[in-house]
Amino acid sequence: MAKILGMVSTSHVPSIGNAIAKKAQYSDYWKPFFSGFEPIHEWLGKNKPDVVIVFYNDHGLNFFLDAMPTFAVGAADQYMNDDEGWGIPTLPPFKGDASISWEIINGLIEREFDVTTCQRMKVDHAFTLPLKLLWPESESCPVITVPICINTVQFPVPSAKRCFDLGRAVGEIISNLDSDLKFLILGTGGLSHQLDGERAGFINKKFDLEFLDSLVKNPKWATQYSIEELVEQVGTQGIELIMWLAARAALPGQVQQISSTYHVPISNTAGGIVLLENT
Ligand code: DHB
Ligand code: FE
Repeated sequence: MAKILGMVSTSHVPSIGNAIAKKAQYSDYWKPFFSGFEPIHEWLGKNKPDVVIVFYNDHGLNFFLDAMPTFAVGAADQYMNDDEGWGIPTLPPFKGDASISWEIINGLIEREFDVTTCQRMKVDHAFTLPLKLLWPESESCPVITVPICINTVQFPVPSAKRCFDLGRAVGEIISNLDSDLKFLILGTGGLSHQLDGERAGFINKKFDLEFLDSLVKNPKWATQYSIEELVEQVGTQGIELIMWLAARAALPGQVQQISSTYHVPISNTAGGIVLLENT
């Protein structure tokens, strides 16, 4: 049976790409964020996942407002990154495995999640930078990836509960795969931030810390909120934290927190990083 090792979730600001390109990871500004990955590198070195399932949101690179799937799953053997206009380096192609993707897609459709299937899919900073943060030393990402994209860009956005249920279904499907592969679940986005409008720059530390705490103690806690309530609490872009819920829900066992980092700000965002092991 396939094994789910645990989950990592992290914020995904584009300027992380610039910090890496300029080798500024250990500058005063960036050190508190990048050093949050040190215990994760150590854990990855010991646990060596083969496949990473990435819950993230596309910001206009692959999907635009004219055609916006609520849930989209990559079903390709390779995923390309491209210039999004942020002035950050484009990363080399990411390995996929269409057969693993189709197992997940079939399982999701059976469980009544009617996902969009993408045999060609470009991946943006929300996918590429977190993987680069996990494996900074590798020229290209050394593991197989499965992108699962959740719309947080254009309303209507799926509820926190729906994303939790999606994650749980993905965890169930992977746990039942007849495979020796080891899986890591990655969620990217959040924590609180708002990039536009009157509340641009909005951060809610109190809510973020309660959310981080809930991932271990009461993972369904955030599902009590509607998307509109979450926008109020964490900002229009802060709702990206529903990726963390999907990732958390995919862990079938008890969890142990290996590390947790919270640092404000990285760019306009409250930076969060967490590693939970599935025991
Ligand atoms: C920023 C945050 C994001 O989540 C994003 O996708 C783009 C920019 C920011 O804080 O600058
Ligand atoms: Fe984002």
